[in-house]
This record gives sequence, structure tokens and C-alpha cells, in this order.
Amino acid sequence: MLDGIKNKVAIVTGAGRGIGQGVAIRLAKEGAKLVINDRDQEPLDHTIDLIKSAGGDVVGVAASVTDDDIGDQLAKAAIERFGDIHIVVPAAGFLWDGMIHKMSNEQFDTIINVHLGGTFKVVRDTFKVMRENARLEKEKGVTVPARRIVTISSLSGFGNLGQANYSAAKAGIAGLTRTVAIEGAMFNVLANSLAFGLIDTRMTRPIESQQEFVDGAVQGIPESARNKALDEIPLHRAGTIEEAVGPIVFFCSDLATYATGALLEINGGVHIT
Ligand SMILES: NC(=O)c1ccc[n+]([C@@H]2O[C@H](COP(=O)([O-])OP(=O)(O)OC[C@H]3O[C@@H](n4cnc5c(N)ncnc54)[C@H](O)[C@@H]3O)[C@@H](O)[C@H]2O)c1
Repeated sequence: MLDGIKNKVAIVTGAGRGIGQGVAIRLAKEGAKLVINDRDQEPLDHTIDLIKSAGGDVVGVAASVTDDDIGDQLAKAAIERFGDIHIVVPAAGFLWDGMIHKMSNEQFDTIINVHLGGTFKVVRDTFKVMRENARLEKEKGVTVPARRIVTISSLSGFGNLGQANYSAAKAGIAGLTRTVAIEGAMFNVLANSLAFGLIDTRMTRPIESQQEFVDGAVQGIPESARNKALDEIPLHRAGTIEEAVGPIVFFCSDLATYATGALLEINGGVHIT
């Protein structure tokens, strides 16, 4: 077991699939109490079943992270059921790729709203609670525990073909996280971000081998582009969901009490050659 997670209250968005699901299950295994979200009820229920059948304590909130009050919905669920918030991992999102000369305003705004807007709303309203609880603890002279926000940026945040919208959102998440780290430091709210490369999920599997759409936008990467990306990765493979979950959970644990404002790149070695 990792120190710093047992009995803590964690909120994870996009927990119906992929990285968010993996994080929710791992945090539950480490003894956290969970509030999990996804826009799709069925996969959300599946994650809830997996956590409950392993003896975990979990509440689901089926909603879109683009809802104006999503942060309040999640914070309310955590406070009503568990009384506090210690860990927040916004991992919801999807792709709507296209070259910039063909990208519509709607295509740009949709992806900015789900990734950057969704992360902002969830972080703002949960941070409000974490900050206030830390302030009260300080006032009482109680030790203020580390509370943690772990956001998901991307290698694409440094620029990627066909992803002007997603790249802008992911670069934005890195800046947002560093600002939260500055504003949260005096309350022991630590904020860190992961920039993942190619992790094997619905978002990155070959389009040709899956028929997955979100609001009409195809999910996945054309096989040829995916193979080219794999060629450029020194480890020559995509990462697994577990390999993405590990570094996220590291930032959620007491292994990382002195880390804040960090952007950790986990990408199989891209940029080292
Ligand atoms: N897979 C990768 O290679 C990779 C790399 C870098 C960053 N990321 C990021 O990791 C996060 C998780 O992605 P994944 O790869 O696990 O994808 P995924 O498609 O497997 O899971 C994403 C989940 O988010 C949910 N979701 C989508 N829009 C939502 C909304 N508006 N409100 C609530 N839930 C919503 C989906 O229903 C899905 O269950 C995303 O932020 C993604 O951008 C992924």
C-alpha cells in the first residue's frame, strides 16, 4: 500500500474508460473513497461495479465535464458522502482531430471546452473546498494534510499534427496546473501534471480496428500515423493504461509530498534521441 491515499477522498472524471478508469480502480485499491464521473452511464456503472466488488467505497456522478456546475456537482457528492476532498484527477476527454486549415470553430471550441474547460471547472470548484478546509485546519492548529490535484496534459501539448485544438487545450492544462500550484501552496494543495505520449486506449487505438465515436467524432488514430508515432518512440511501443496510472498515483501519494507545479513527461523516451 502507498502512504497518503488510504481513507482519502478522491474525485476522478472520465472514469468509465481508459486512464481515468485505471486511476479510479487503483486509488480504490489503495484505500481511497471515490467520487467518479463519466458522461456515459454504462461504462461509469461498470467501473462502480468493479470497485464495489473489490470492497471499495464509491459514488458515481454521470454528467459532462462541460456542464457549468460540474465542479459543484462533484464537490457536493464528495462532501455529502465523505466529508472532504483530498485528491482530484480530471481525466475526461475525447478527440476531434483535423488539420488547422480545415478545423471549424465548433471543432476547436468543443475540444477546448471538454479538456481545458472541463479541467478548469472541476479544479476550480474542488480547489475551493480543499482551500477552505485547509484554512480551517490551519486556524485550529491542526496539521494540514497534502491535498492533491493531478491533471492530464499530453505530449501533444508541445504540438502535434492534426491536433491544433487538442494541443492548445493540453498546453493550457499545463499552465492552469502551474498556477493552481502557486495559489495552492500555502494550503498544502499540490498540483502536478502528466504529459503522456501514446497510451493504449480508445483515444489512440487504430481507427481501422475500432468503431468508436463521440458526438460523431471518430476516436483513435489512423494506423499509418500510429505506426509512424511508434517508430519515433525509443521503447517502440505504446504505454499501457497501468503505465499511465502509476505516475498519476505517485503524485496522489506521500511519495510526492515535495512535488508541486511539475509537468512529468511519460512517453517511452520521446525527445531523448
Ligand atoms: N491515451 C493517450 O495516449 C493519452 C495521451 C495523453 C493524454 N491523454 C489524456 O488522458 C485522458 C484520458 O484519456 P484516455 O486515453 O483514457 O481516453 P478514453 O477514451 O479511454 O477515456 C476517456 C473517458 O472520458 C469520458 N469523457 C469524454 N468526454 C467526457 C465529458 N464531456 N464528460 C465526462 N466524461 C467524458 C469518456 O466517456 C471516456 O470514458 C484524457 O484527458 C486524454 O486527453 C491520453
